Amino acid sequence: MDDTGAGVRELFRQAADHAADYRESVGERRAGAAKTFAEMRVDFQRPLGSAGRPAGEIVDELVRIADGGLVSTTGPRYFGFVVGGALPAATAAEILAAGWDQNAWSSVLSPTAAAAEQVAGGWLKELLGLPAGASAGFVTGAQAANTVGMAAARNHVLARAGWNVEADGLNGAPRVRILAGEERHATVDRSLRLLGFGSISLELVKTAANGAIDLDDLRTRLAGNQDPLIVCLQAGNVNTGATDPLRDACEIIRRHSPEASWVHVDGAFGLWAAVSPSLRHQVDGLELADSWGCDGHKWLNLPYDSGFIFTAHPEAHLAALVYSASYLLKSANQEPGDFALESSRRARGLAVWAWLQQLGRDGATEVVDRCCALARRFAEQLQAAGCAIGNEVVLNQVLVSFGSDTETDRVITEVQNAGVCWMGGTTWRGRRYMRISVSNHLTTEHDIDLATTSILESRSSQ
Ligand SMILES: Cc1ncc(COP(=O)(O)O)c(C=O)c1O
Repeated sequence: MDDTGAGVRELFRQAADHAADYRESVGERRAGAAKTFAEMRVDFQRPLGSAGRPAGEIVDELVRIADGGLVSTTGPRYFGFVVGGALPAATAAEILAAGWDQNAWSSVLSPTAAAAEQVAGGWLKELLGLPAGASAGFVTGAQAANTVGMAAARNHVLARAGWNVEADGLNGAPRVRILAGEERHATVDRSLRLLGFGSISLELVKTAANGAIDLDDLRTRLAGNQDPLIVCLQAGNVNTGATDPLRDACEIIRRHSPEASWVHVDGAFGLWAAVSPSLRHQVDGLELADSWGCDGHKWLNLPYDSGFIFTAHPEAHLAALVYSASYLLKSANQEPGDFALESSRRARGLAVWAWLQQLGRDGATEVVDRCCALARRFAEQLQAAGCAIGNEVVLNQVLVSFGSDTETDRVITEVQNAGVCWMGGTTWRGRRYMRISVSNHLTTEHDIDLATTSILESRSSQ
């Protein structure tokens, strides 16, 4: 097989053209997939032949088969889960990253990938208002970010208690208390399990009506116990968008345990409130925490899979992850792979670098502000039409109910089937809601109006 000459050029152009065709038409496509998973299984299924086939033929066939099962998450009217699109410059950089096929483990393996990550990491810290000396790891998503952040936390609090967890493990280690809000993201529990703590070691702090932690309950739980302590706070509740009171919580925790404590903030999407002067107050006190996890592939509109972990204690971050082997050449500097879970890794920094260059600081603020304004527009229009809004719309998340739980679920299914827009359902405080997340840079007021019309038609369609 030959990778040089006209063959590879034609093939890459063919693939890029298909991708561009898709992107140009995504606003006109159904918001959800046209075909089911079972149908797609049938379409993809065929015997694995013993002879290979020409690459160009495969690309065309792949495009033909894949089409029916594609979900228009990059389109302007996909409001499900919390997903963003992918900004053009970032996607183009991703295409280049695939073409260059660099391994971002180290600056020896790819000076380009390592440098792009380091520079983009600096810009992200600047944008979010995090300490300039914080370590930055480019990981696969917020869950990986939380796992790495809490691995660093585990190192730090146990080291303060005189225990080297990397060498001695958790058997016989001093007990570590772990606190998180009742409304933490479900993946936090998985991160803790992977770190050897087990779900049972998690103590839940009560939450207020909006899902943010109750400070009195936090104080009460801390009182009279000096075990090494990890607290996982949240910026951006997946249902309401509310953020824990970060400043007050951090101050309470520091007063209680100035030495052997670590505060991690899971800010998968909510951390991005920090880039907007009008929303920044929601994450006030952010800089007092010890680590921050967030996603690139959600509100930042970066391609999958992209997340970031920042810590105020690079030495703990490194101690938790760094490894060595005689054959591994490293530069004198710390390497990108020392701050993430994987060693061989995609060159994620290239897309982040390109994304930040395309938007600039003002563009990033504008995307965040516009999504929040559009979420408020959604809520206002639906409320004016008699729907019940289940949350104070402080960020980009809106909860809507249409009467009984059964009726709300019926409307959600109807809207999904209509295909103009897509939103999922959730249970919040014991009631069913349609959950709307406005996270895409392409979404306009017109899209909100089209989606509102579709929702109201679905409501009255019975
Ligand atoms: C608050 C929060 N934390 C963590 C996660 C996990 O993020 P990811 O799917 O990028 O790993 C999500 C979203 O899925 C989230 O909304």
